Amino acid sequence: MSLELAANDGVAPTGAGLASSPLALRGMTVSYGQKPVVFSVDMTIAEGAMTAIIGPNGAGKSTLLKAALGIVSPLAGQVTVFGKPLAAERHRIAYVPQRASVDWDFPTRVIDVVLMGLYRELGLLQRIRGQHRDKAMACLERVGMAGFAERQIGQLSGGQQQRVFLARALAQEADLYLLDEPFAGVDAATEKAIIDVLKSLKDEGKTVVAVHHDLATVAEYFDRVFLVNTRKMAEGTVAEAFSAENLDRTYGGRLATGQIDQLDLVAG
Ligand SMILES: Nc1ncnc2c1ncn2[C@@H]1O[C@H](COP(=O)(O)OP(=O)(O)OP(=O)(O)O)[C@@H](O)[C@H]1O
Ligand SMILES: [Mg+2]
Repeated sequence: MSLELAANDGVAPTGAGLASSPLALRGMTVSYGQKPVVFSVDMTIAEGAMTAIIGPNGAGKSTLLKAALGIVSPLAGQVTVFGKPLAAERHRIAYVPQRASVDWDFPTRVIDVVLMGLYRELGLLQRIRGQHRDKAMACLERVGMAGFAERQIGQLSGGQQQRVFLARALAQEADLYLLDEPFAGVDAATEKAIIDVLKSLKDEGKTVVAVHHDLATVAEYFDRVFLVNTRKMAEGTVAEAFSAENLDRTYGGRLATGQIDQLDLVAG
């Protein structure tokens, strides 16, 4: 596989950085018990770029996204979204959670899952109309799942469910997309379908942040990386920050040397 680094060069935070960043965390510390699992993390996501959040299992990647969304409350730290407090701009964020975390114990049709993405447009009391259904169907179309609209979500395979959650995120028409391991356990065709949708979002000027485990595809898929293991380990363009040295520090030497050698990394 050829990993093209040059194509991704030059995607740095644009504008005034912090003030215009779609998502900025400052001093984020989160603890579920005694010990923080995310400690004093600063993160500035670049607008219009695709950023991979990378780190070992248990590094706090999902927690970081949840803190950014206000799903978990931090011990300390601040979140700004497009330069404003999270509460004011939360509606501009679409979130696709890590797959294992969603448990469908009641019957819900695929189309209804996607319609949930339209809740802002729909409000609480408004009836679902043809135009809403059309919009939801268009989003299913975009992820190649239109044929499954009437199926129960619980009856779909993991990869198919993942596509449906992406369709729900699309329905939200957000400006910032946070995805927790969108490619986990999906086959090559679904991975291609998902990356194509994410790249089209980027082409529309949207900002995409995804937790990503496959180091071999980082340079191909992403512009920027954020390396974390409880603390921030590195942040920058793939060309700047996706180095053997940074990976080694992030994974605490647990990546085999052979694994690192196979990656087309920037010189540390
Ligand atoms: N709800 C919770 N209650 C208690 N501990 C939790 C909770 N959620 C996560 N943790 C712990 O916090 C740490 C960070 O978890 P998190 O899910 O953020 O890691 P991650 O980097 O997303 O890992 P993975 O790659 O396995 O998804 C882990 O040690 C985990 O066991
Ligand atoms: Mg996780």
